[in-house]
Amino acid sequence: MNNYWSRIPGFFKQSPEQRRQSLSALALEVKDEHWELLDKGLALEIADHMSENVVGVFNLPFSVAPNFVVDNQAVLVPLVTEEPSIVAALAKMAKLVALNGGFKTQVDESRQKGQVQVYGLADIERSQALLAQHKNELIIFLNHQIPNMIKRGGGVVDISWRALSSPTIGPMLIVEPIIDVKDAMGANIINTLMEALKPRIEYLLQGQVGLCILSNLCDTRMAHAQCSLSFRELALDSSHDFGEQVATRIIAAQAMAEVDIYRATTHNKGILNGIDAVAIATGNDFRALEAAAHAYASMTGSYGPLTRISIDRENKILHAKLSLPLAVGVVGDGLKLNNGVRVAHKILGSFVESNKKLASVMVSVGLAQCLAALMALCTDGIQKGHMALHSKKNLISKRSHAN
Ligand code: MEV
Repeated sequence: MNNYWSRIPGFFKQSPEQRRQSLSALALEVKDEHWELLDKGLALEIADHMSENVVGVFNLPFSVAPNFVVDNQAVLVPLVTEEPSIVAALAKMAKLVALNGGFKTQVDESRQKGQVQVYGLADIERSQALLAQHKNELIIFLNHQIPNMIKRGGGVVDISWRALSSPTIGPMLIVEPIIDVKDAMGANIINTLMEALKPRIEYLLQGQVGLCILSNLCDTRMAHAQCSLSFRELALDSSHDFGEQVATRIIAAQAMAEVDIYRATTHNKGILNGIDAVAIATGNDFRALEAAAHAYASMTGSYGPLTRISIDRENKILHAKLSLPLAVGVVGDGLKLNNGVRVAHKILGSFVESNKKLASVMVSVGLAQCLAALMALCTDGIQKGHMALHSKKNLISKRSHAN
């Protein structure tokens, strides 16, 4: 695919003002008034209601990566990050992937687990039988607490439980409702439901209820992206043979991450470099995303890379896939209090129509970021690109200290 509207040749060479004009000219819904909003940023009085002991507002660069094609649809990606090279690497990789048809994704419904811990139970087996007997009634009770979510088609879809034991408190039951949170990130609604369940569970099981909280390990809320790169693209301006060498080195890099936790951590950090930047721009909880990603990376019992990468020498193609849990929201309390988030949503256009669509962009960005990092590491090394921007930063820093 060579002709798609998110491609903006020379975007990186433009000034911020010219980039705004280029984006507005693409007939996005982004108009001058939105750029003004972005400049206003987060108002101090709003910030004061978002957190405690507020004394100011902290700024970060807001960038846009062109060239993305996700599920045959072009998209521009807003990114908030201070780390040099991330945005350039994404734009470059997205362009190469677009030449091979773009990213293809698959995203689960937004179903996530809450947890209610019960201990001090006289008879764990009898407690499980009671839960089985009253499960439907508990689901109905919980769904009564959230009429708006039910109207939106969401709500509690199931309740399961697990018996665990700890050396300190002995046996316990973990009651785990699964909630479809639709287009919300869902933490608030799940936590509210778990707290509402507490007296019911205490009465039913006659045990001590401990924690009532969501689980951030949302492996029922997975996002997958895959893409291909031909050796020609991997070779950049060089020969196909060089492309095969780069592909082979990328396979070796993936192999190292598969057997070494020290490398796997850095490999996954590269993925999250991209995902976090979209999460911050869109007002999402990047701490939750990080926790889920790293926990998921160790679910087999040993921590590993979140990607799978393979080589097809016959057809001269590298295939890559990323799978990770992604709890993101496009609606929710205060999501758009920050003007930057409103502008990010405008830039994403139809990709913020649902959680699933936003997750499809984020998982593609994660895969692009990982491949871009591996490609740099397997060719010039990472420092070349980094240092060019670092020297620019140092110059600016010296200038601002001089003033
Ligand atoms: C730097 O922020 C991220 C990388 O270290 C990722 C990687 O090594 O794959 C470049």
